[in-house]
Amino acid sequence: MIPLFDMTRQYENLREEILKAIDDVLLSGKVILGPAVSEFESEFARYLNVKHAIGVANGSDALVIALHSIGIEKGEKVITTPYTFFATASCIVRNGGVPVFVDVDKETYNIDLNQVEDVLKREKIRIVIPVHLFGRSVDFENLLFLKEKYHVKILEDSAQSVGSEGKIGNKILKSGTIGDIGIFSFFPTKNLGAYGDAGMIVTNNDELAEKCRMLRQHGSKKKYYHEMVGYNSRIDSIHAAILSVKLKYLDEWTTRRIEIAKEYQRLFEDYKLPVKYPKVVETGYRNHVYHQYVVEFENEETRNRVKEHLEESGIRTALYYPLPLHLQKCFSEYGYKEGDFPVAESLSKTTLALPIFPELRNEEIKEVVEKIKESL
Ligand SMILES: Cc1ncc(COP(=O)(O)O)c(C=O)c1O
Repeated sequence: MIPLFDMTRQYENLREEILKAIDDVLLSGKVILGPAVSEFESEFARYLNVKHAIGVANGSDALVIALHSIGIEKGEKVITTPYTFFATASCIVRNGGVPVFVDVDKETYNIDLNQVEDVLKREKIRIVIPVHLFGRSVDFENLLFLKEKYHVKILEDSAQSVGSEGKIGNKILKSGTIGDIGIFSFFPTKNLGAYGDAGMIVTNNDELAEKCRMLRQHGSKKKYYHEMVGYNSRIDSIHAAILSVKLKYLDEWTTRRIEIAKEYQRLFEDYKLPVKYPKVVETGYRNHVYHQYVVEFENEETRNRVKEHLEESGIRTALYYPLPLHLQKCFSEYGYKEGDFPVAESLSKTTLALPIFPELRNEEIKEVVEKIKESL
């Protein structure tokens, strides 16, 4: 069996360090916030080169709290992509807003910033939530261009892209730190994953950081005194301690993910397979951290046939995402229909996520590609 993602191979390598980190937290007696959380927040902020990092219970809460801290009016429109995980859009609705979807680019699968600009030209919208999807950075310079020209606030959903980079001028920066506020998820399968739910909000803005710190603790700075109505959404201290251990290995793991992407690419090229894959380009920075390795087939029938053959051969794959968000039942009141976003709709039918995780072995990659070749 070749899994899509295997947590146990990584755990075997880190077992002693992780068990010690858990033991230290339990011996400290501080299991809600406390030093393990503040240490991980400082290390994570340093890794990203950002001023504030605020640990929360999961990436979905990070989105809700970050958007809450920006402040949105009831019924206010917020732009985002229909080709992402549900939480990117549900955070808008959970804050009383209305999602305005904009189609994605057919090469990067990220929100099409030209189309975002078209919307901003027509309508006064204050907030945009781009997603660095599957680990690929949205173009930072174009994002900043929109921010400056249209005075929009940007909440970056970096849940899938920890460590992905981009350039502004000749400076290399990390995703999540470009807009006003950014969020990360440490869901177990993420490139930096906890053993349960955990998330982070990052920002260079002191005021937003202070609000988020309050919001994660029932809107209070001083215990039992509440300045606003907040949430109970703190990162668990045990998870923070585990993530501190793992953060030290993140760059090494990302390097291996890029190697895996190169290996897939080499095999697809050698076999001349009719598969569209995310090309590894030498840019001098990591514009893609290959959280997911998503390839595209000619049509839905081919995609499904390949998926079935891989499943039968013991190779696990996944569909990200089978139904774009504008067509979800819970968003039907916004009046979107099939055909509104042709790229997102087509990708949901033709793409397939293949196994990728740092411990995946080259012979397993070869096996995956051989099976794709057989079914094509
Ligand atoms: C793009 C994106 N946004 C938000 C989230 C939500 O994160 P979590 O699962 O930690 O709540 C995820 C995670 O799955 C995601 O992939």
